[in-house]
Amino acid sequence: MKLDLSTKIGTVLFKNPVLAASGTSGYGAILNDIFDVSQLGGIITKSITVKPRKGNPPPRIIETSCGMLNSIGLENRGIQYFLDENLPRLKTFKTNVIASIAGNSDEEYAMLAETLNKQVDAIEVNISCPNVKEGGMSFGQELHSTRKVVETVKAVSSIPIIVKLTPNVTRIEDFAKVCEESGADAISLVNTYKGLSIDIRSRRSNIGAFTGGLSGPAIKPLALYAVWKTAKTVGIPVIGCGGVMNYVDAIEFFMAGASFIEIGSATFREPDASLKILRGIKQFLEDENICCLNDIKGVIHEC
Ligand code: FUM
Repeated sequence: MKLDLSTKIGTVLFKNPVLAASGTSGYGAILNDIFDVSQLGGIITKSITVKPRKGNPPPRIIETSCGMLNSIGLENRGIQYFLDENLPRLKTFKTNVIASIAGNSDEEYAMLAETLNKQVDAIEVNISCPNVKEGGMSFGQELHSTRKVVETVKAVSSIPIIVKLTPNVTRIEDFAKVCEESGADAISLVNTYKGLSIDIRSRRSNIGAFTGGLSGPAIKPLALYAVWKTAKTVGIPVIGCGGVMNYVDAIEFFMAGASFIEIGSATFREPDASLKILRGIKQFLEDENICCLNDIKGVIHEC
């Protein structure tokens, strides 16, 4: 029996469903020093903005109980630097390249999507960053602004559009439905949960920008629930993200209805976590005599 892990978003084929999450592996090269990233299904870049951004003041990352709080503030060198310096190397890897984009306005999202169209395999529209004053998560917390930005990006794109959703809303599945209606080809969820950590001696936040976004094992059950609700609501592929630390977590996300998983915080603990998780998924499926992911996708007994 031959194991087939390939899966699609729109017309784009992915050799397997394991993706490096945005913001956790730069532009691929840094991970490739540690393992052959061509083995992954895809690499999602750190979010790219129109102009360079310096990001937020330090400390930007701290460890919390079973998790990690970050507030990077979308630091990146802007679209032109990405095209000139990062993309050529990214394209040498035999894996799909997904460019994450973040803007302050619909126009900025459109400019980024139009510029990247056909240069990469897909675009992840980040409307869920909790760490910036303008744009970011605010686009993903109102149904009408979510609809508008997705329609705007879709209008200028001929490659698949993935929308990354924030869990900092009451019913994430409603946002996923709006994205699907607006032409999104897939949904990724969840981005981080907005959080706070306090140094009781100084009575200050442990994060330079005061608040941050929580990720890691602490949020896995919450992310899994969000994926399960969303996968029952939309027909497009759902990409599960949030505390996937090992292959068991990954299989849980598939059983909750995810077609793909993104590995994020785990990479900070073990840089080759995504490769280990991919190997674990393959081993599990072989042990269970399962030849493709569809056989476990969304298959949980609900009573
Ligand atoms: O602070 C950051 O750059 C985080 C981005 C995100 O969570 O999308």
